[in-house]
Amino acid sequence: MNNKKSNRLSWALALLIPVVAGCESQSATQVPAAQLPPAQVPTASYQELMKYVVDPTADDIWNAVSTTATKKGVVEKVPKTDEDWEALRRHSITLIEASNLLVIEGRPIVVGDGKTSEMPDELHADEIQKLFIEKRQQFVSNAALFRDAAKKVLEAVDARDVKRLEQTGAALDQACETCHSQFWYPGQKLPKAL
Ligand code: HEC
Repeated sequence: MNNKKSNRLSWALALLIPVVAGCESQSATQVPAAQLPPAQVPTASYQELMKYVVDPTADDIWNAVSTTATKKGVVEKVPKTDEDWEALRRHSITLIEASNLLVIEGRPIVVGDGKTSEMPDELHADEIQKLFIEKRQQFVSNAALFRDAAKKVLEAVDARDVKRLEQTGAALDQACETCHSQFWYPGQKLPKAL
């Protein structure tokens, strides 16, 4: 009986030793930091990030609640099913994390010599680039404001609270506007509809 026990113990030890040794050899073969590929590589331009990530995602949040007057009467649209709320959760998290993408350094404003402006009071890419350098702190604060606004949307989604979703959605819109009015069309007097 005793013999059996000690046999088991030595088996357990025998199994443990390679595990410990395995850990050691793993750390010894870790790739030195200098040889790692760069952790952050901005690929999309700001314009692409806005057009393909931020704007359509925010639209999906804003369009989740709507009231439309039709011939048959007023049609109210609100998130109802688990899938509806799960989609809103996905959108909120996409926006929260997009705020981090906004502050990665070295991201171009546009691809090549693309245009950022159709309206006279919209800045050109090179002017935005200059502002980004001069007012980096302000830009980062705006991105943080945007992140906090998106986090509040997520809280409303998790509470499944339609009223709060509308309120936090409006605050999110303000956060977009704060950054745009300083970095995209700073000369403009009136808030501009997107
Ligand atoms: C921290 C700054 C910042 C925040 C926050 C921000 N944007 Fe932008 N956005 C910019 C800048 C700078 C431009 C101008 C350069 C460009 O055209 O992409 C821009 C441009 C845009 C454009 C025009 C893209 C095009 O085709 O040229 C849209 C649409 C847009 N933003 C939507 C949004 C929406 C919606 C939000 C909020 C949910 C938002 N942005 C939040 C900085 C920001």
